[in-house]
Amino acid sequence: MTTGEYVGSIADTQLPESLRATLPGRYYTDPAIFAAEQALILEEGWFCAVLAADIPTAGDFETVQVGRESVIVARGRTGDVHAYLNVCRHRGARLCTEEKGSVRRSFQCPYHAWTYGLDGKLISAPNIASMPDIDRREYGLNRVAVQEWLGYVWVCLADEPPSFADTVIADVTTRLGSPEAIVGYDVAGLQLGRRISYDVAANWKQIVENFMECYHCGTIHPELTEVLPEFADGLAAQYFVGHGAEFGEDVAGFTVDGSAGLARLPGVAAEQDRRYYAITVRPQVFINLVPDHVVLHRMFPLSADRTLVVCDWLYLPEVVASGADLDRSVELFHRVNQQDFEACERCQVSMDSRSYARGGVLVPSEHHIGEFHDWVRERVG
Ligand code: FES
Ligand code: FE
Repeated sequence: MTTGEYVGSIADTQLPESLRATLPGRYYTDPAIFAAEQALILEEGWFCAVLAADIPTAGDFETVQVGRESVIVARGRTGDVHAYLNVCRHRGARLCTEEKGSVRRSFQCPYHAWTYGLDGKLISAPNIASMPDIDRREYGLNRVAVQEWLGYVWVCLADEPPSFADTVIADVTTRLGSPEAIVGYDVAGLQLGRRISYDVAANWKQIVENFMECYHCGTIHPELTEVLPEFADGLAAQYFVGHGAEFGEDVAGFTVDGSAGLARLPGVAAEQDRRYYAITVRPQVFINLVPDHVVLHRMFPLSADRTLVVCDWLYLPEVVASGADLDRSVELFHRVNQQDFEACERCQVSMDSRSYARGGVLVPSEHHIGEFHDWVRERVG
């Protein structure tokens, strides 16, 4: 009986010049590797958690899964945003089981009624008079770092968060070629027009890798390649620095049928008009810029083979208020999402196959994905 060579990984040195190796299949299925990614990537860096406008008034909150932790993000009494671990400091009960909601001025643990302010400080506990030496800040909820940018609340669970500028903003700047390029879109000034959530049966890295390349565009994205003809050639906007893919000649707007879009964002520069820019903010955000709206994806990796993707379509507030029909605008990227996530799921089911134990290959138009793999490996080994 002969056996194939199924183990080990494909080394770059064994491949011809035009090809590079991917990660081996187990990187997409092994719970131990996923646990390392949760601890060393998702909990160590900045994580885009909540659309700030979704918690507009004091007491509004959302709970989000960040790595292994449930985190409460809440609007405080003075309008500031706080985030803390969703764990009662008394005996560890989960404080909030709702995904979102509103409290009057505090969170009360349903077990023994310890009560915490919107800033996480311990306000009261039954029989607290019998514990005169308790330091209420010391037994408050464990706070996590918060930063607001692009209208979203980003949180970081690390004891010493990395510089937001050197990580999140640097990813955007590097992709667009300048820090000013995103300013004209005034993303924080836009308003949610539509949100669709996708429960994807694939590892989060499949979704990142897919977003980074356009080798698949000609095969699976008929509507997108109609609007952006250069995508049919397989080179994604992310293959180049500062490059926006140009709309086709007959295309009026970034819509499912190429018909006119909505009102153009006033700050979009002439050289950005009629172009599509795609940005990956590692590890879990994609930003898509077009002249009349912005599509922002937040990923919530839930297990090695399951990722929740929340996709927001953002428009000028007056466009949303006008009740304008957003369907053709939304439908284009919704189809792209469905096509992409189906492809990711199609790969995910093969990751445990002996055929992929040594990984696969990256063709030249995908070589930049290798940099993402290096980034993951540097963190989890
Ligand atoms: Fe929360 Fe006891 S576990 S009050
Ligand atoms: Fe795609």
